[in-house]
Formats: sequence, structure tokens, C-alpha cells
Amino acid sequence: LEREKRILVTGGAGFVGSHLVDRLMIEGHEVTVVDNFFTGRKRNVEHWIGHENFELINHDIVNPLFIEVDQIYHLASPASPPNYMYNPVKTIKTNTIGTNNMLGLAKRVRGRLLLASTSEVYGDPEIHPQPEEYWGHVNPIGPRACYDEGKRVAETMCYAYAKQDGIQVRVARIFNTFGPRMHMNDGRVVYGEGQQTRSFQYVSDLVDGLVKLMNRGTSKIVKKPAMQDDPKKRKPDITKAKNYLNWSPQVPMLEGINRTIEYFFNELRRSKHSERNFHVPETDSLKSYHKTNLI
Ligand code: NAD
Ligand code: UGA
Repeated sequence: LEREKRILVTGGAGFVGSHLVDRLMIEGHEVTVVDNFFTGRKRNVEHWIGHENFELINHDIVNPLFIEVDQIYHLASPASPPNYMYNPVKTIKTNTIGTNNMLGLAKRVRGRLLLASTSEVYGDPEIHPQPEEYWGHVNPIGPRACYDEGKRVAETMCYAYAKQDGIQVRVARIFNTFGPRMHMNDGRVVYGEGQQTRSFQYVSDLVDGLVKLMNRGTSKIVKKPAMQDDPKKRKPDITKAKNYLNWSPQVPMLEGINRTIEYFFNELRRSKHSERNFHVPETDSLKSYHKTNLI
């Protein structure tokens, strides 16, 4: 059995973060969630409040944070277009200054940091499927730039701290993920002519991939020669995740959709009952230091 660890999850009250928290709590770790509740909800983690291994801190990661932890899953960032476009400057600050703070924390405590990056670092990709070596095709001044470029800088910063200070980092380039607790007005794929394609994974598969990526020993960096606004097509090449992490999606599309529908059904019924407008913000799979595409 793995040693219990002190684990920080930034953005832990969000869609992906709260499922990761469930997994880490069930494994018996000490889990601290840091979230400013911009798109996250206390309700996503309320079942852990009061548990002796759980702590919830209302904090904006653009401001420094001093706590003692072994691992940092750094997920804090608005993730769906309507959310990250709502305040582009704040999105940039969260991904740059916020990530700098979390890397500074990792440096001080000599911990390991996993960055939740995104398939959006590929922009509107020109090659399919996208291998980790692809550099992307991003418009730096378009409406998605605050997020795409923010995550690209966040990745760059992870590698800079790794190189300069020996910080252990992991970068997961996450592709579209769905499941319970995703935001209702996620909106992706349904815009335009509906001809775009994406690759979808169920959230439990993503969480499994994130935990595997975090806990796998650091691989050697092998330098290879460089290979060369709403993406039209996107599909990850997951060969590395399969080979190095023994990871592949397990939940069939239909089953995942059924679980998600059930969740939304209950949500809608609940909100009707309480006659209150509940917060309905979003969603997007995975990549690493030894970079890994997790769908
Ligand atoms: P989410 O919006 O549900 O969760 C993000 C969380 O971060 C929220 O709880 C939000 O309140 C919090 N947050 C935002 N700014 C913050 C700040 N400045 N300080 C503290 N907390 C802050 O989104 P999600 O879908 O769970 O995404 C989680 C991570 O995964 C994000 O980094 C996102 O970019 C990445 N990602 C997700 C997908 C996907 O399909 N869901 C795809 C690609 C990448
Ligand atoms: C950084 C680099 O690490 C140095 O290599 C570089 O020389 C320097 O910038 C520079 O500007 O020239 P610094 O920003 O001082 O150094 O501190 P870091 O230890 O890298 O921390 C980065 C951020 O994380 C800081 O804003 C700090 O407040 C924050 N932090 C640090 C936390 O939020 N929590 C911590 O526990 C530790």
C-alpha cells in the first residue's frame, strides 16, 4: 500500500478536482483543497467537510500560499470558454502568477507538482491525432488566447523550475472530459454547424490517469529533433500513456453519458424543488514532463 501523503489540490472544488479529491480521500491521504469558488462549488466537496483528513481553504492562488505538502495537483483555472473568456486577464493571472506561486510552493517544500494543462495548447491542430511532440497552432491574440497561452506559459514555467531548481513536475494535457459535476452550460461542440469532432473521456478515467502520472517515477528527458480559433478536429495520440502509465480509458461512452444524464436529471429536479438558480458554469483528456496525452 502506498504511503499516505499530504496532498494539495488547487481547484479541488471544481468538476475534475472534486472527483480527484474523492479518490485521494478514499485512498487515505491528507487532502487540502484550495479554491476561490470562481467556477467551483463547495457542494462538490461538502461530503468531506468535517473529515479529519480534509481541509478546505478559500484562497485565490494569484496570492502566495504557504502550507506544508508532499504533492500538488494544480488544477485551479477556469476551463470552459464561457468561463475563461468572462475575465481574460484574471484567467491569464491565474495560469501564470498562480502557477508561479504553486511552483514556488513546490520548490520550498521540495514537493512534486502536476499541472492540469489542456489539449488547447495545440490550438486548432494541423495534425491528427496530436502526439506530445506537436508544438501546436495557437492564435496568440484570439479570444481563446488567455487560456491557451496561459496554459502554455504554465507548462513552460513547470519545465523552467524543473531545469533550474530540480522541481519534479508532471504536465497532463487534458482533452474533453465529461461526467457528474461538470458545468451545465459547458456548451462545447454544440456551437457552429456542429461538425467539429473531439475525443471525450469519462472523468474517472481522467482521475486515474492523473494519479498514475503523478506517482510514476520521473523518466529521463529524451531530446528529440523538433517536429515541426475553435479547433475543427481533435484526437490525442495516447500511445505514451498506454506504454508508460499502462493507462487507457475504461468507461464506455454510452455508460459515461448515462451516468452524466442521471446526475443532470437529479440536479435539475433538485433545483426545481429549491426554486433557486444554481450555479451552472462547464467542461474538456491528458499529457507530461515525460509528456502524456490522456484523452
Ligand atoms: P472547473 O471550472 O470545474 O474547476 C476549476 C476550479 O478552479 C474551480 O473550482 C474554480 O473555482 C477554481 N479556480 C479558478 N481560478 C482560481 C483561482 N484564481 N484561485 C483558486 N481557485 C481557482 O474546471 P475543470 O473542468 O474541473 O478543470 C480543472 C482543470 O483541468 C483546469 O485547470 C482545466 O484547465 C483543466 N482541463 C479540464 C478539461 C475538462 O474537460 N474538464 C480539459 C482540459 C483541461
Ligand atoms: C524566482 C525564481 O525561483 C528565481 O530563480 C529567480 O531568480 C527569481 O524568481 C527572479 O525573479 O529573479 P522568487 O520569485 O523569489 O524566485 O521565488 P520562488 O521561490 O521561485 O517562488 C515563486 C512564487 O511562489 C513567489 O511569488 C512566492 O511568493 C510564491 N510562494 C513561494 C508561495 O506562494 N508559497 C511558498 O511556499 C513559496
